Amino acid sequence: MADIVFDKELVTEGLADNTSALPVRVEQLIVAQAPNKAVVACQNLQIEHYARQELCRLHPAEEARASAYMYWGGEERDRLYTNYEQVVWDVTWNDQSLVVVHFEWENACGGSSRDWVVADSVDVAEALILDVERKTHAPGDAILVFSHGDWQRSYDLYRATQAASFDDLILADAMKDRIRQDFSQFLEAERRYQSLGIAWRRGALMIGPPGNGKTHCVRALVKELGTSSLYVQSLSHPYYKEDQMWKRVFDRARGLTPCILVLEDLDTLVSDENRSFFLNQLDGFEQNHGLIVLATTNYPDRIDSAIIDRPSRFDRKYHFHLPTEHERIQYLSLWQERLGDETGWAKNEIAEIAAATESYSFAYLKELVISAVLEWMQESTAPFLKVLQSQLNTLQRQMRSDE
Ligand SMILES: Nc1ncnc2c1ncn2[C@@H]1O[C@H](COP(=O)(O)OP(=O)(O)OP(=O)(O)O)[C@@H](O)[C@H]1O
Ligand SMILES: [Mg+2]
Repeated sequence: MADIVFDKELVTEGLADNTSALPVRVEQLIVAQAPNKAVVACQNLQIEHYARQELCRLHPAEEARASAYMYWGGEERDRLYTNYEQVVWDVTWNDQSLVVVHFEWENACGGSSRDWVVADSVDVAEALILDVERKTHAPGDAILVFSHGDWQRSYDLYRATQAASFDDLILADAMKDRIRQDFSQFLEAERRYQSLGIAWRRGALMIGPPGNGKTHCVRALVKELGTSSLYVQSLSHPYYKEDQMWKRVFDRARGLTPCILVLEDLDTLVSDENRSFFLNQLDGFEQNHGLIVLATTNYPDRIDSAIIDRPSRFDRKYHFHLPTEHERIQYLSLWQERLGDETGWAKNEIAEIAAATESYSFAYLKELVISAVLEWMQESTAPFLKVLQSQLNTLQRQMRSDE
């Protein structure tokens, strides 16, 4: 056997037109064009993110022209960004020159990609890969968002989260303090949990009708705790099962602990098909050491009692009710303080509106105030209270038709 030597075409020819042949062919081309260099392949190398942290310098090589397209960063940033689908990067790292080749292609399960590091030696290539992995692992000033089967960094969601605060969140007596203390104490108590032999993890479920502060509270917590956070937007994927998606979600979260995994609208994420797999990930064999799971729902009755009633799964439940009259006064007072000077809305006019908004959510109250401001801006001769009252009637009709 030893005297038979198969050449490289064995793999490319063997795979023929299968897309798996593509990375093999690219690697052969790289090796042929860089005969004296070491070539090390890896996947999802976040070299651009690494460069953004100024840990290396990057330029797309002129000769091998990149396949790239520009996109607009939205009104707020108002600039063009480049997305590279295939690119050869000239990299300067620790005074060394390397090359990173990045290729993306379509396959039967959506998309695939690979990166190759071309360096003077395997040691240098591996050292770069290791450092990139270490420094780009944590989300940094972004939140990791899971959709289409993969994680993306969302800087916008991070900014929205940083803008959230407990100061303007109105919650029933003491609940705000309880929530804040609960999680900050939890994060400081790793040793105590361990010495008592209890798993250091926490699950909280926020329950309540739409528009009463669940999302606001999650964001304020994420900001206050300052840990990495991951947000599951959707588990659907055209080719993979949701079980596999749950595994991807929990695997990444476990690799980032202590961290917060946010599962908004849990009732829509957990289905009959994926429930047992989800439960297994939540409190099965895995320790989930340092993992905080924050879930929200409008429909607790749609969530299986195996999830909702077992303390090992969601050991805290917080109810976000419709505001009481006292809470409506508190909330409207926040707005009055902001708008009073400009609009002439007086403090002693708050109680009347609070009394007339029974069964309003905070979100509806917010809508009432904002629509009144918009209306008042057009007709600023009318007293603000009058405008509020007329908007109240309009909104009440809309709410009735929403029901
Ligand atoms: N308790 C509250 N105190 C102050 N503002 C609130 C409160 N609840 C809701 N709001 C405001 O109303 C808007 C909607 O709230 P939020 O998104 O947190 O609701 P939610 O409970 O997550 O609703 P949904 O179930 O529809 O997701 C936000 O602008 C939020 O700041
Ligand atoms: Mg919400």
